Amino acid sequence: MKIGNIELPKYAALAPLAGVADRAMREISREYGAVWTVGEMTSSKGLSYGSKKSAELLEINEAERPTAVQLFGSEPEVMAEAAKMALEYKPDAIDINFGCPVPKIAGNGGGSALMKDPELAGRIVRAVVDAVDIPVTVKFRAGWDNEHLNAVEFACICEANGASALTVHGRTRTQMYAPPVNWDIIRRVKEAVSVPVIGNGDVVSPESAKALYEQTGCDLVMVGRGAMGNPWIFKRIAHYMETGELLPEPTPEERMAVLKKHIKLLCQYKGEYTGMREARKHSSWYIKGMRGAAEFRRECGALETPEDLENLIDKVLLASENEGEF
Ligand SMILES: Cc1cc2nc3c(=O)[nH]c(=O)nc-3n(C[C@H](O)[C@H](O)[C@H](O)COP(=O)(O)O)c2cc1C
Repeated sequence: MKIGNIELPKYAALAPLAGVADRAMREISREYGAVWTVGEMTSSKGLSYGSKKSAELLEINEAERPTAVQLFGSEPEVMAEAAKMALEYKPDAIDINFGCPVPKIAGNGGGSALMKDPELAGRIVRAVVDAVDIPVTVKFRAGWDNEHLNAVEFACICEANGASALTVHGRTRTQMYAPPVNWDIIRRVKEAVSVPVIGNGDVVSPESAKALYEQTGCDLVMVGRGAMGNPWIFKRIAHYMETGELLPEPTPEERMAVLKKHIKLLCQYKGEYTGMREARKHSSWYIKGMRGAAEFRRECGALETPEDLENLIDKVLLASENEGEF
């Protein structure tokens, strides 16, 4: 499939995950087979006010490409200005967030609040498309709530205003992240537009990725929570789609080696203090399902230094070696 002139191979993309899918995670996900990544949502207002924190979210590594940065906001002119500023970081595309459900964003008219005002959303897409010379993509939900499932109308408006691809998360704003996910609305969007449609919501395995492809006809699937501590999911999805065969889960040694690499990158990009604090959640995701995970999770929460992580990894590997001896 193509986003503008960018040819993307199959089979799965990494979803934007604020506070999680930063440069380190995006780089690791690319290495393990994610064909496309999208940066953490960034405030267009923050950028236009010169916020350093907002600008930092736009930083990209060459190893991540192809990749998009994501902007949110409710004012077409501010979004256009922010998109121009974002070009300095040389993203391959600009993604617009019309899906964020959190009150801090949606309560201020941004993110999923735009689903209640498709006309304004259309003007935002048009303003951003006119401001930049790279593809502009849009990510949104099934609708605001079950009484307003307007994703199809919304998709058509975004397409008409120049969006090059659409990502649909099959949930409403009021659902936040609660089940069930509505893949049928993704199918209906796919049938209604001619730009590529990226399907999103509850892909946690090669089998669920295949089911999403089959049930919706989408052009690409996007994985969010299922990739946390689990970058292998991208290669496992690709292999399963191509061969119908399930690759084994990674060994404990491989898991821990990638965790170590991930945290090393995190510390490199954010400094050791912040990196190790953020390592706490990532390490608890990487050890999920391993022997002793519940007990080790407490230790993850107390990580302070790379040496603490080394010690934790040694203990986790020892516990998995002893598996079966109890
Ligand atoms: C911690 C977290 C952060 C998220 N941040 C963003 C974001 O910055 N931009 C966005 O469009 N969606 C964001 N999302 C939504 C995800 O991209 C995705 O649409 C949603 O999690 C459903 O996909 P999944 O079931 O594969 O996780 C976030 C979700 C989570 C759980």
